[in-house]
Amino acid sequence: MNVLLLGSGGREHALAWKIVQSQQLDQLYCLPGNPGTAQLAINLPGNPSDFATVRQALLDHQVDLLVVGPEEPLVKGIRDQVEADPALQHVGIVGPGTAGARLEGSKEFAKCFMERHGIPTAAYRSFGAEDLEAAKEFLKTLKPPYVLKADGLAAGKGVLILEDYAEACAELTEMFGGKFGLAGSRVVIEEFLSGIEASVFVLTDGVHYLTLPEAKDYKRIGEGDTGLNTGGMGSVSPVPFADQEFMSKVEDRIIRPTVAGLAKDGIPYKGFIFIGLMNCSGDPYVIEYNVRMGDPETESVMMRIQSDFLGHLKAAAAGTLDQETMQTDPRTALSVILVSGGYPEAYQKGFPIAGVPTAVEDGIVFHAGTALKEGELVTQGGRVLSCSVLAGSIEQAQQKAYSLAEGVTFEGMYYRRDIGNDLR
Ligand code: AMP
Ligand code: GLY
Repeated sequence: MNVLLLGSGGREHALAWKIVQSQQLDQLYCLPGNPGTAQLAINLPGNPSDFATVRQALLDHQVDLLVVGPEEPLVKGIRDQVEADPALQHVGIVGPGTAGARLEGSKEFAKCFMERHGIPTAAYRSFGAEDLEAAKEFLKTLKPPYVLKADGLAAGKGVLILEDYAEACAELTEMFGGKFGLAGSRVVIEEFLSGIEASVFVLTDGVHYLTLPEAKDYKRIGEGDTGLNTGGMGSVSPVPFADQEFMSKVEDRIIRPTVAGLAKDGIPYKGFIFIGLMNCSGDPYVIEYNVRMGDPETESVMMRIQSDFLGHLKAAAAGTLDQETMQTDPRTALSVILVSGGYPEAYQKGFPIAGVPTAVEDGIVFHAGTALKEGELVTQGGRVLSCSVLAGSIEQAQQKAYSLAEGVTFEGMYYRRDIGNDLR
């Protein structure tokens, strides 16, 4: 089987690393991939959101299975375009069509979906710019902190949590005024949920599903969860509080109704569902849906999957996931992200990277934002590398991941030293 994987981050290097372990694979192609995936696959140049580029790659390389890493190609309709193309009828696809991708592409759609199917989530109302006064009145009925969410994709920046009513009103006015472009032309205002967050991942063929290992993501730049939000500074799997009792609530109240709800609404869905949830005193509530895997959660989740992941992906695309079982390693996977100095604000690129090991037992350094410049590995993004390991306990995993991190150097390199501390 030939596989084309779209995307270029740490998530895609981790997916590629797992896919190439399958006996079923003939050749993996990554578009565009990164220097990490280049060691495992053939990287193809181009923009993964450009259908003509993807189409040509599928045809040129006789691809049987298309696996979509990031959300953008999905929200832009890559599945619908492949499915409508007479020359591509043989290609299986992991990733939903535009109808399903609205779970991530529109917060208002996701909230209505959860309401319709009785899935626990924060109470909310949504408003358009013409409803500014009504929105301010609604805010008055809530207790702070106030949660404002731009309806559309806003590069992970569209959620604001504000302590003060006047500040919330001012932000609301700015959102309607175009602060997040069209993404903020509608705004969801919701109740603040307090608890601990976890990321749950499901692979579904629209009827059946497999639940992947859950993970915890560390979103803030600073230790102790302080400072600005980032794409994610580290991850750990499993999450100790997501025990059997909690996960069976997640399955009964969230996963099953989500998969059944999509089918009931006539939305065919073959791909990943990433459920960001809050554990509120032992009860799970959905914070958000994404229609892809998480990054940096994937870097830890892939380390724990022992069964044939490519087999699972192929079955999801074919509608035969009932014939698959997932085997997972009970040990702890932990990933520490090495970032460029200044990230998540402005940072410089192009610094030489040294000390990335080639082979580590039960560990790997995944590439996230790197490039090759005249044969030399250099920094190319905010999140540069992920030091990912597997070990018998959180403490051992921390030791191992941090010793990997200490071996790597590039100018301005920064990482959080407390990934996993809160779970020990
Ligand atoms: P999102 O972009 O939807 O993942 O939201 C970003 C972050 O905002 C989440 O990871 C949560 O930490 C936080 N958040 C979102 N919605 C709520 C809520 N209703 N209550 C508390 N925190 C929230
Ligand atoms: N780690 C969170 C995300 O991928 O959205």
